[in-house]
Amino acid sequence: MILTKRVLIHLLIYTKFLAFVQSELITFGIVGALSGLGYYVYDKYKCVYQECCTDEYIPADLDRLEYVLTTKLYGQQIAHETITNALRGHLRSHNSSKALVMSFHGTPGTGKNYVVQMIGKTFYKNGVQSNYFHFFNGRNDFPLQQKVDDYKEDLYKIIFKGLQQCERSMFVFDEVDKMPEGLLNVLVPFLDYNNYHKSIKNSESVYQNKAIFIFLSNTGSAKIVHHLKNLWEKGKKREDTKLQDFEKLVASGAFFEKGGFHYSDTIQASVIDHYVPFLPLEEMHVRKCLAKSFTDRDVTPTEEMLEEVLSHLTFGPEPHNLYSMAGCKRIEQKVAAIVYRKQSEFKPID
Ligand SMILES: Nc1ncnc2c1ncn2[C@@H]1O[C@H](COP(=O)(O)OP(=O)(O)OP(=O)(O)O)[C@@H](O)[C@H]1O
Ligand SMILES: [Mg+2]
Repeated sequence: MILTKRVLIHLLIYTKFLAFVQSELITFGIVGALSGLGYYVYDKYKCVYQECCTDEYIPADLDRLEYVLTTKLYGQQIAHETITNALRGHLRSHNSSKALVMSFHGTPGTGKNYVVQMIGKTFYKNGVQSNYFHFFNGRNDFPLQQKVDDYKEDLYKIIFKGLQQCERSMFVFDEVDKMPEGLLNVLVPFLDYNNYHKSIKNSESVYQNKAIFIFLSNTGSAKIVHHLKNLWEKGKKREDTKLQDFEKLVASGAFFEKGGFHYSDTIQASVIDHYVPFLPLEEMHVRKCLAKSFTDRDVTPTEEMLEEVLSHLTFGPEPHNLYSMAGCKRIEQKVAAIVYRKQSEFKPID
């Protein structure tokens, strides 16, 4: 009797255990299926709600860039052509193992940052707000020479992570001449042929390096101005000047003048593909900037208003004083102030 009771109790425990396992399995199954479905839905639709490294978010619309440069950038035909050709070539070549590296040089207010903004806006759907557009300022982000080793480490990590997130990332370094010397050497493996990819993937396979690096600085600009002035004195028109007239000058200026590129391996390893000169702007270009600035505010300026802004600008170098020393810089602010003053003069007094 006792034996039968024991067997019955064991049977009961066993059946309960089976029922428990079964129900847990069903729960796990449902939870598993639901989380699988959840992940599938997330994976399928995540790019609707957040930026992804896809063509939709990276249209790289070079036709639009071409249009914007043609209509909104004044007096920089060499930069215009060099940049669009470089970008087209880079996007078209399907087996380029090197990142595209451009270095913009020129006097203040000639359009270096302006063009970078245009590139960012036409490359990424989210423009310069894109997670794949990285902007560094030499003066603000890397102010101290004695901290160069820390900066190197941080910069390496940011770029490494950025490229893992999206190979079509863009890295812009503004005011390179204000960066601690030696910092940019940390970039060489990312710029150079295949090196970076081989080292992380440990593969010999052909790899297309889609990243773009752009450096901005004023180094070499004195040479650009001097040379353009000489060409002008010889009767050569600005429109007839070519990249070759300036490229070597700018490269040597960047290398020998103080700042981020000073005696830099980045230059020595010849990883910079294009040195892009931004020519100093003449009065006719500055007047175009002025006209645009007034038009953007729906104001038709009088000659007196134009002269007032122009009187704030300095033209040089002696003796011809052909070029605006600050290009079109601060024109926006001057125009805004004049428009505000004029409008408040005409406001009826209550
Ligand atoms: N070539 C140009 N054509 C039209 N507008 C221009 C041009 N250059 C400059 N501008 C105007 O002047 C503003 C200032 O120019 P930008 O910031 O690009 O100068 P920069 O070359 O980067 O100078 P810096 O060397 O001082 O940094 C621009 O936002 C733009 O409105
Ligand atoms: Mg600038």
